[in-house]
Amino acid sequence: MAMIAKQCPDIPVHVVDVNASRIAQWNSRELPVYEPGLQEVVEEARGRNLTFSTDVDGAIRDANLIFISVNTPTKTFGVGAGRAANLEFVEKCARRIAECSTGHKVVVEKSTLPVRTAEAVARILASSATNATFDVLSNPEFLAEGTAIQDLLNPDRVLIGGESPRAVEQLVAVYSRWIPREKILTTNVWSSELSKLTANAFLAQRVSSINAISALCEATGADVDEVARAIGFDSRIGPKFLKASVGFGGSCFQKDILNLVYLCEHFGLSEVAKYWEQVVVMNDYQKRRFSARIVRTMFHTVSDKQIAIWGFAFKKDTNDIRESAAIAVCRDLLEERARLVIYDPRVSEQQIRDALEGIFKDATGVLSDRHRQLVREHVTIAPDAYAAAAQTHAIAVLTEWDEFRRLDMGRVLAGMQRPAFVFDGRNILDVARLTSLGFEVHSIGRP
Ligand code: UGA
Repeated sequence: MAMIAKQCPDIPVHVVDVNASRIAQWNSRELPVYEPGLQEVVEEARGRNLTFSTDVDGAIRDANLIFISVNTPTKTFGVGAGRAANLEFVEKCARRIAECSTGHKVVVEKSTLPVRTAEAVARILASSATNATFDVLSNPEFLAEGTAIQDLLNPDRVLIGGESPRAVEQLVAVYSRWIPREKILTTNVWSSELSKLTANAFLAQRVSSINAISALCEATGADVDEVARAIGFDSRIGPKFLKASVGFGGSCFQKDILNLVYLCEHFGLSEVAKYWEQVVVMNDYQKRRFSARIVRTMFHTVSDKQIAIWGFAFKKDTNDIRESAAIAVCRDLLEERARLVIYDPRVSEQQIRDALEGIFKDATGVLSDRHRQLVREHVTIAPDAYAAAAQTHAIAVLTEWDEFRRLDMGRVLAGMQRPAFVFDGRNILDVARLTSLGFEVHSIGRP
């Protein structure tokens, strides 16, 4: 919305949320999300044609176009728990819009939703007690975190699904202010909804595919970066999204694939469901494999050993830790009674502690005393990468922050126990140089 406001100074954009503290943050100098370039975009438009408020009803009344951009987390209860999307917030939004609207409104699904949700939204809107009328469009978001501003300024494509040509044209008119018309694709609503889930499933599948090969590389003596480079030169395959890692994370991939799996199961397509589910299975395996390798390499025990964790975010240039591979790796190491010293340049101590307590909670959301104590006593947060590594037996690199490439590794080594192990879950460190300094380096997909 900030980008729309920036690019279309004559269009008033009202962002509303029921959460007053979030809105206060959006109105302050400390935005609630870290995203390179976002601060500048918000500050340019805020107060001009971009406002943030809690006046949900007023914003609905005033708007011609309404974007529903609420979260759709994986359901944790009831039918489809662990797979299906929780549509509670979408439905509540639709009901509120139905109550407050007059005249004609175009309602745009921006949240990532299962296929045929637009239909449900349209039905709720149609049941409005007022005489308002509605068109519903699907306009999925393809930006990636960390590169959001560039992705929005210069997207590969914008996708708009809708039945009403007039409504579609209204939204096209907004995007075409800065995006070439040929990059704005229009489809039917269901194709648009399904394309979003499919794009993420294909991207995640590439990561799981190369991660599967990384296991084979470690066993055979091949080097996964060389393999990725060699296959990436095939123009049909291409070089992107072939970086082997400790596993993909983020709020989207796993959620969207499980959503797709649930849809397939719902329609009785069990083979299709299993096929896509394997992408997530492989990702869980990759995360487990990494922590198991740490334990095995460190003489089969990490109990009471200090291990530095460099990076907790699910990728660089974001403070987002949702589904971060770091959470799973730390869980495994804590189960083995390791002492973790964690450093991430953008993630707060509270976020880290909440995530680690969260992962140990049982199905009913209860954290046992043993696990609470484990997180309290075995986890320390360090102010920088050097402090995190001091006195440790090993370093595990879990996020590819640029600053980790630029560290004085001689200084890091001087503070560590021997043998000084490095487990590079992102393949960002220079193995030859580290080895010559005296580290023992283990990376992903290398013998
Ligand atoms: C992803 C998609 O890339 C976006 O197009 C989509 O709009 C977004 O989900 C969404 O649905 O909202 P995002 O989750 O922000 O974006 O991040 P990605 O850059 O896709 O990375 C996801 C994970 O895969 C990260 O943990 C990353 O480190 C990992 N990854 C990515 C690899 O391990 N290897 C790679 O080669 C690429």
